[in-house]
Amino acid sequence: MVGLLPAAWLAARTAGFLGGLGTNPIERLLIESGTIAMITLLSALGVTPLRRLTGLAAITRLRRMIGLLAFGYVTLHFLVWLGVDLFFDVSLILDDLTQRPYVMAGFAAWVILLLLASTSTDRAVRMLKRNWSRLHRLVYVAGVLAVIHVIWLTRADYREATIYALVLLVLLGSRLVWTVVQRRKVRGEPARNGVT
Ligand code: HEM
Repeated sequence: MVGLLPAAWLAARTAGFLGGLGTNPIERLLIESGTIAMITLLSALGVTPLRRLTGLAAITRLRRMIGLLAFGYVTLHFLVWLGVDLFFDVSLILDDLTQRPYVMAGFAAWVILLLLASTSTDRAVRMLKRNWSRLHRLVYVAGVLAVIHVIWLTRADYREATIYALVLLVLLGSRLVWTVVQRRKVRGEPARNGVT
């Protein structure tokens, strides 16, 4: 329910409430939907580090839901671009996709998230077994592409893009540190067992 609040806020603004969308509503809608998509995606990436940091196993139950929510918001942002900005005009869409590198990066991120969302069912988890977690590591690639997308489209003020990049760097860094520590533990385990 909390995750749907940004959608309700955006819907209210689109309908003219809460200050509306200003003088350039399409651009505002793209920016706001993109911002919500990015925050939700980074939140999804933050679930595992937060669980490791706090030891709260219950947080894991939220991971799939926040991941799907991120996919939903990115899709909303994508649809705003497709339908509201480009009126589903195929030649405009192809022009944008082939000539604007930031659109390509965003699109690639969306394709990855689509793949992950479509393999997020219990059945897919069972079918893919160990490959499932390998496949779902692609979420970090989607995160990197999303940040590249925003850096590329930024023309002047890089503050927002820098914040996203830093948050992603911390999340990726924490994953790297965790993997190194776990490997060391595993390597140290037999020796310690040997002593005792
Ligand atoms: C994970 C996927 C994506 C994320 C997280 C994301 C995020 C964002 C964000 C935060 C902005 C606003 C930047 C600002 O404040 O100026 C934005 C703008 C935009 N995004 Fe995305 N985006 C994603 C995917 C896409 C896709 C798939 C497309 C289209 C194929 C797209 C097209 C655009 C466009 C056209 C803008 C507006 C650029 C402008 O202001 O001129 N994005 N996106």
